[in-house]
Amino acid sequence: MEQQIKITRTSNSGLQHIDFENIPLGTVFTDHMFVCDYENGNWQNPRIEPLQMIPTHPAAMALHYGQAIFEGMKATVGQEKTPLLFRPEENAKRFNHSAVRMGMPTVPEKLFVEAVKQIVGVEHNWIPPQDGSALYLRPFMYADEPFIGMRAATSYKFIVICSPAGPFFTKKIRLYAETEFIRAADGGTGEAKAAGNYAAAILPTEKAKAKGYDQVLWLDANEHKYVQEVGTMNIFFKVDGKFITPSTNGSILKGITRDSVITLLKDKGFEVEERPITIDEVIQFSKEGKLEEAFGTGTAVAIAMVEAIGYKDEVITLPDHNPVSLDMKTTLDEIKTQKREDDHGWIIPV
Ligand code: COI
Repeated sequence: MEQQIKITRTSNSGLQHIDFENIPLGTVFTDHMFVCDYENGNWQNPRIEPLQMIPTHPAAMALHYGQAIFEGMKATVGQEKTPLLFRPEENAKRFNHSAVRMGMPTVPEKLFVEAVKQIVGVEHNWIPPQDGSALYLRPFMYADEPFIGMRAATSYKFIVICSPAGPFFTKKIRLYAETEFIRAADGGTGEAKAAGNYAAAILPTEKAKAKGYDQVLWLDANEHKYVQEVGTMNIFFKVDGKFITPSTNGSILKGITRDSVITLLKDKGFEVEERPITIDEVIQFSKEGKLEEAFGTGTAVAIAMVEAIGYKDEVITLPDHNPVSLDMKTTLDEIKTQKREDDHGWIIPV
């Protein structure tokens, strides 16, 4: 990034009012945010300023046509109290992949990573030190050009906000395999981290909750047969000693935690198959006693262990103990806090 990031600090920090023992994800925000404007074909005026409302024209195109994308990342503290990021270049790449799909400008990877590093540098005292806690980072971009009409906007904002968070989903989750609604279709936006994908998931998730489940297990759009994702996470099944996770096919988010878990599982000697897997296979594996564990992976949650899956009139229950899921959770946490060797060079000090 050739342009300097200008930093304006608040004189009124909210830090002393925070109870770090008790912060549900997404409810508390730090003092500052990073902001950069896209105008006339360039990213301009990168700055860190006190967190504040963003004035938005009522015709801002993101509000009407949905050009809005985001990323999820976490900052942790290492053994020497250094703030750390986990694979930030991967988030930069995925952000740009989402941008391209949604007809939005890309952000130079160097600017993305520098923005995240600098905001974490400014807010490092907000990184919760407790095990499993982190400073959740939310880089996002939206079209702020006021215009009524269907085309790509010409002006955008790229913003990074930060939210300290304790461990997400502490209990095991119950999944509802959805056969009516879909999350993503071939040729659609499933692989993009686009706001609209999440909007479309809200109604089905509420309906699943009303039936006593926590999250939707998404099936493919054509046949309602192939497992895609779970809630806002990727999914892994441990079957007869090996792992199966749906192969990414344009409709599945290329999770950075997913990718890291595949590497860690292989490091530990497990076979990992990335392949299409049907819900019928999952049910059959369970009936044969071969379905040993299942878990979701995502930035916010890291690893969410599955308790049960409901599909049509059946509910299958997973075994009580989940040694490998737990081991993955601990391994990721320990790498992110430098309690364990970072063999893959994933940790980037700020
Ligand atoms: C994440 O895991 O970072 C996500 O983007 C999911 C979000 C709903 C918290």
